[in-house]
Amino acid sequence: MKKLSANEIRKMWLDFFKSKNHYFLEPVSLVPVEDPSLLWINSGVATLKPYFDGRMNPPSPRLTNSQKSIRTNDIENVGVTARHQTMFEMLGNFSIGDYFKKEAIEFAWELLTSPKWFDIDPELLYITVFNEDKEAYDVWTKIIKIKEDHIFKGTRETNFWDVGQGPCGPNTEIFFDRGEKWDPKKIGSKLLKDDIENDRYIEIWNIVFSQFNNDGNNNYTELPRKNIDTGAGFERLVSIFQDAPTNFETDIFFPTIKQVEKMCSKEFKYSIDNYYNENKEQTKINTGFKVIADHVRAVVFAISDGVFPGNKDRGYIIRRLIRRSSVYGRKLGIKEAFLYKLVDKVIEAMKNFYPYLIEKKDIVKEVIKQEELRFLKTLSKGYEHLESIIKTEKKVSGKNALLLFESFGFPIELTTEIATQANVKIDLKGYEKLLEETKELARSSRKDDKAWNKQSAILTGLKEESEFVGYDLEECDSKINFIFEDESKLQSATNQVVFITLTKTPFYAEKGGQAADNGYLIDKQENRHLVMDVKNGPNGQHIHKVQVNGTLKIGDIVKASIDSEKRFYTMKNHSGTHILQAAIQEILGKEALQNGSYNDENGLRIDISYNRLPTVDELAKIHSVIAREINNKIPREIIYCSLKEAIDKHKALALFTEKYGENVRVIKFGSFSCELCGGTHVANTKDIEDLLITNVESKGSGVFRYHAVTSHKEVVNYLNEQFTKQKLEIQTLIDKFNNFKLKVKNKTIETQINEIMSLKVNKENVIVIKQKVNDLKNLFKIYQREIEELLIEEKLSQYSDISPIKKDNINWIELETNNLEMKEMKSLSDKLQNKFDNLIIMLWNIKEKVLVVSVNEAIAKDNSAIELFNNNKKFKVKGGGNSTFAQGKII
Ligand code: ALA
Repeated sequence: MKKLSANEIRKMWLDFFKSKNHYFLEPVSLVPVEDPSLLWINSGVATLKPYFDGRMNPPSPRLTNSQKSIRTNDIENVGVTARHQTMFEMLGNFSIGDYFKKEAIEFAWELLTSPKWFDIDPELLYITVFNEDKEAYDVWTKIIKIKEDHIFKGTRETNFWDVGQGPCGPNTEIFFDRGEKWDPKKIGSKLLKDDIENDRYIEIWNIVFSQFNNDGNNNYTELPRKNIDTGAGFERLVSIFQDAPTNFETDIFFPTIKQVEKMCSKEFKYSIDNYYNENKEQTKINTGFKVIADHVRAVVFAISDGVFPGNKDRGYIIRRLIRRSSVYGRKLGIKEAFLYKLVDKVIEAMKNFYPYLIEKKDIVKEVIKQEELRFLKTLSKGYEHLESIIKTEKKVSGKNALLLFESFGFPIELTTEIATQANVKIDLKGYEKLLEETKELARSSRKDDKAWNKQSAILTGLKEESEFVGYDLEECDSKINFIFEDESKLQSATNQVVFITLTKTPFYAEKGGQAADNGYLIDKQENRHLVMDVKNGPNGQHIHKVQVNGTLKIGDIVKASIDSEKRFYTMKNHSGTHILQAAIQEILGKEALQNGSYNDENGLRIDISYNRLPTVDELAKIHSVIAREINNKIPREIIYCSLKEAIDKHKALALFTEKYGENVRVIKFGSFSCELCGGTHVANTKDIEDLLITNVESKGSGVFRYHAVTSHKEVVNYLNEQFTKQKLEIQTLIDKFNNFKLKVKNKTIETQINEIMSLKVNKENVIVIKQKVNDLKNLFKIYQREIEELLIEEKLSQYSDISPIKKDNINWIELETNNLEMKEMKSLSDKLQNKFDNLIIMLWNIKEKVLVVSVNEAIAKDNSAIELFNNNKKFKVKGGGNSTFAQGKII
C-alpha cells in the first residue's frame, strides 16, 4: 500500500479527474447560498444542486471537487465511533448529462487500482450494487471483471440514494477490506453481504446514478439528463493510506491531539494501542482527545466562513461544539481556555488546500477564546455550587443536577464525573425523569411563581421585618424570620426551593428596572444555599428564592452574601442608564421621555418615546455628552426627601408608570441628572468608565429601545466583536479581489479594503466600518461583472485560432461550441465579425440545443441570417432574428 499524506491524496484525486477533462471547482463556504432547506453544506453535491436540477449551466459537464461539509445529526457519536465527524471533506466527481454508469465505474476503478494513482490491491476492494440495477452489475462483472465473491446486491435501503425531493437514483458503493485484525470473529464478507455494522470493510466511495427525480412525494420520473454524483469520505481514505485505526490517527487530526496531550494533565495520553487491547478507561480518554480535535477543526472552519457562536441555528451549533470541547478538556485536566491555542495546529494541517485560513487565524482565535472564557465563568459558578451540594448532602439529587444544568449550563456528564470523583451518588434516573417531564416542570415553575403573586394571602399577611442594607453592604449576618412554599408557611426546609425573608438583607430585589442580586446564604456549617432570585413583597420585604442545600429553619443565623461581580457591573449599567437618559434629552429635547428601562450585569436598555430613530449625527452627540459627563467626574448624591420636594426643588425625573411613596430617594449626578430611584449606583460618573450605544430599534407606537454597554472592558469586547464580524463578512470579497486584482485592477476597491482593514477599533469607527463595508459590497457588484466578463474572455480565448473557410468570396465559420452559453456564443460571433470581412457564422451548442447565425452587413442582402437560420441543413430549429443576426432553439 502506498504511504500518502492527506494533501497528496486530495491532490491525486483532483489530478486524476482533471486528467479526465473534469473542471475543478474550488471549495465553497459551509454556509449554503440561497438554499433554506440546508443549515450547512453537507456533501459535495449540495453545492451543485442548480446544475443537477437544470437551473444553471455548469462551467463544464464534468466536474470534480473536494468540499468541506458539516453534518450535525449525531454530534454525540463524534469521538465515540471511529468515523463520525462534525466537519469532513468529501471528494467527488460529477457528470451533468455527460458520462454515465460505465465511465463512472471505470474512472473509479482506474483511480483506485492503477499503479500510477492510488494503487490499491483489487483483492482488497468490495462492491455493492442495487439489486435491480443490472447495468451497473454488468459493468462491474463483465468490464471491470470483479470477482463474483467481491460484489453483493443490496436493497433499496442500502443502495439507493434518495434525500426526499430532487434527483436520486441507485448507487454502487466501494469498500476497502482492512483485514481480519478488524474482524475478531472472522465472519468475513458476510458482514458486507448482510449489512452488519463492522470495522473491517470501510465504505470509501459512493457513486450515485442520478437518473430519477423525486417530486417530494416519492413519485419518480426519469430525468431527461442523467447525472453522476459521487462522494468519497476524504478522512476515511486518509486513514486507510496511513493505516490508522480511526480517522483520527491521521496527519489531519493527530497533530492537534498531540498538542492537547501537551496541555492536559500528565496522566492522560492518547493510546493507539487501545484499539487492539481495549481498556474502558483509556477508551474514554481517547474519546476526549477525538472530540476536541474534531470540534476545534469544525469551529475554525465555521468561524472562518463567518459563523459566530450564538443562540440559534448555526451559531448555536458552534457554541455547543466549543462548550462540549471545553467540558472534555476539563475531563483531561485542562482548567483554562485552551481551544484557541489549537487553532495553529488545525490551520497547519489544512492550509495547503485552504490557504485563506491563514489570514483568519487571529480573528478565529479571538472569537473562540472569548466564547471559552464566557463559558468557563458560568462553569466555575456551577462548580462552587456543586461542591457545596456534595459537601452538605453527600449526594447529588436529580433536582440539583437539573438545577445545575438549567442555571449554570452544567452538562450532566460533568456533574456525574465530579460526583463520582468525590465518591458520592448521583441520581441519574431522577435527573432523566425530571428532564423528560419538562412540561410538568414548566407547570411547577408556574406554580412556584404563584408565590410571587402579590395577591397571595401569605404575602399580604407577611408582617416580618426585613431591612435592606445593600446600599452600603454586600454581606451581613442575618436571621431567617420566615420561610414559605406555595401557600404554606414552613418551620424548616430541606433540599428544596423555598422563599425566605431575613431580618436584614444586602440582596437587591428586582425593581425600577434593576435586576435582582444573586448570591448565597451561608449557614453556620458553611453550607452555601443559592439565592436564585429576589423580589419585593407587598409590604416591602425582600423575598429570596433559595435552593436550600441541606437544612434551613426559622431563627437560623446565616451570612447573606451577594455576587459582588454581578452587582459591580449592574451598578455601572444602572448609573449609565441615568446618564444616557439625560444625554438623550439634552440632544433630542425634553419630549424624548423614558418609558421604562432594564439593567443587569450584561448591559442596559431604555425605551424612549419619540417620533423617530436618532440620526447618526445625534448618536455621536449623545456619546460625546456622555463622555463629557464621565470626564467631569461628578460625584453621586443621594437625597431622601418628600415626593413634592424631589419634584419641585430638585426637578427630579419621575416615571409616570411607577408608583412612589410619600418619602422618596433621589439619585443626583450634579446638575446633569436627577431621578427618583431606589437602585444601586456608582459613587462617581467616572466609575461608569465608558458607555457605548450598541443598537437602537423601534418597538412600534413611537417607542425606541436603546441598548448600551458600559465599562472599558465591555465596550472593548463589544467593539472587537463588531469589527471582527464586519471584517469576516467581506473576507470572501477580499479573497476574490486578491485572486483577480492583477488581471482586473481597481484602485477604489483596493483603497476601500485597505481602509477597512486598517480602521482603528474605536467607538467612532463602529458606524464607519459598517458604512464602508456596505460601500465595498456595492462597489463589488460592478467589479463582479468585470470578473465575469474576464472569465468569458478567457473562455473565448480558446477560439482565437479559428479561421474561416472561403467559398465564393464569402468567409464561413461553422462551429460546435458545447461549453458556451448563449450569451457567450453571441460575444464570440461579435468578436469574429470584427476580425474577418464578409463573414457568415453559425455556432451551435447541442447540449443547450441552441443555434446562432450571424452575417456581416455587407453581404446580408443576399445571405440573410434569419433565412440561413431557418433553412440550415443540420438542425430543425425555431427562433427569430433579422438579416444580420438570428438565434433560437434546436428542436
Ligand atoms: N451525494 C452522495 C453522498 O453524499 C455521493 O454520499
